[in-house]
Amino acid sequence: MSDANARRRVLGPADAPDQARSPWQTQRPVDPQDSLEDELYGASLRPKSFDEYVGQQRVVENLRISIDAAKRRAEPLEHVLFYGPPGLGKTTLAGLIARELGANFRPTSGPTLEKPKDLVGILTALDDGDVFFVDEVHRLGRVVEEFLYPAMEEFQIDFVVDRGAYAKTLKLPLRRFTLVGATTRAGMLSAPLRERFGIVQHLDYYPPEDLERIVRRSAGVLAVPIDADAAETIARRSRGTPRIANRLLRRVRDYAEVRSDGRITAAVADEALEREGVDELGLDRLDRAFLRTIVEQYRGGPVGIAAIAATLTEDAETLEDVVEPFLLKEGFVTRTASGRRATAQAYRHLGVATTHAQQERLL
Ligand SMILES: Nc1ncnc2c1ncn2[C@@H]1O[C@H](COP(=O)(O)OP(=O)(O)OP(=O)(O)O)[C@@H](O)[C@H]1O
Ligand SMILES: [Mg+2]
Repeated sequence: MSDANARRRVLGPADAPDQARSPWQTQRPVDPQDSLEDELYGASLRPKSFDEYVGQQRVVENLRISIDAAKRRAEPLEHVLFYGPPGLGKTTLAGLIARELGANFRPTSGPTLEKPKDLVGILTALDDGDVFFVDEVHRLGRVVEEFLYPAMEEFQIDFVVDRGAYAKTLKLPLRRFTLVGATTRAGMLSAPLRERFGIVQHLDYYPPEDLERIVRRSAGVLAVPIDADAAETIARRSRGTPRIANRLLRRVRDYAEVRSDGRITAAVADEALEREGVDELGLDRLDRAFLRTIVEQYRGGPVGIAAIAATLTEDAETLEDVVEPFLLKEGFVTRTASGRRATAQAYRHLGVATTHAQQERLL
């Protein structure tokens, strides 16, 4: 049993990767994570060059400089790490780097690389300058990770042949590739791995004007006519996330085609998004149920995440990963040592009146 498997066994099924999604999530139009639907219908919306990639200016500029410099020196680009919330364009950027370098793009992901053996074939097939993309790089097993170190640093791998007394280590040289890693959990990356990336870039949520440009660009690709104020409506509800913007756009487009003449006006966008349960600030039913639980069942909190999860019959980890970050960022809840608390803004948004005493306590 490999170490990775041993660890998995100790951790048990609750920590196993790819656990089933909750019933809420399969229907959540604002889920920032990749879905089958996005994979099937979103591929065409992926920017094909840096010029089509909207926003994240600083990141794009830094990458362009590093790529230019590497090309001039005829050296491989240093290893790159992208970190940031899901759906902001990490995978897209990795692909664009390969394109810009004129190199092959070889994508894999942490959880699929279970043993060094899984890596050997891929690494030895890489050409000079190729981009080896490892998504969810924080989920590499320790053994695989350690196997990667010399590959990243010296472009060689250590190979053990034979066993016991006859065992010996062979060094196998590799071509000078570029590893691009992506993670939503930079904190879960081990220090030795993090240190082996020469270029580390953080992606942040997009401001509404960038999302509006993304919506307009995507509408153009899909050949749907859209009014400027409708693009703004969709952008405002997309939670700073291009993937959500594109998904909402597709839903609105369906609605426009079936219920009206195909043109996306602000009124059509409003109606369609209301049907999807996405309100004017981009909160959906699960977000509001989360807030309502704190406000109505626990009088505004503080309340532990486990209690909220039990009330919603939802997995606590899921709530922490996919519901809470947005509510925290937008100031609907706060996290205190004694639990989650709803803010005055949450009461206002739900239209729940507060007592005088509560107002004193609220943030
Ligand atoms: N800057 C951008 N401009 C235009 N479209 C974008 C941009 N960033 C992302 N997108 C769109 O959003 C979708 C999601 O992006 P991507 O898959 O690259 O995100 P990610 O950060 O890799 O997400 P995850 O963490 O879930 O892997 C893409 O299909 C693309 O269409
Ligand atoms: Mg990705």
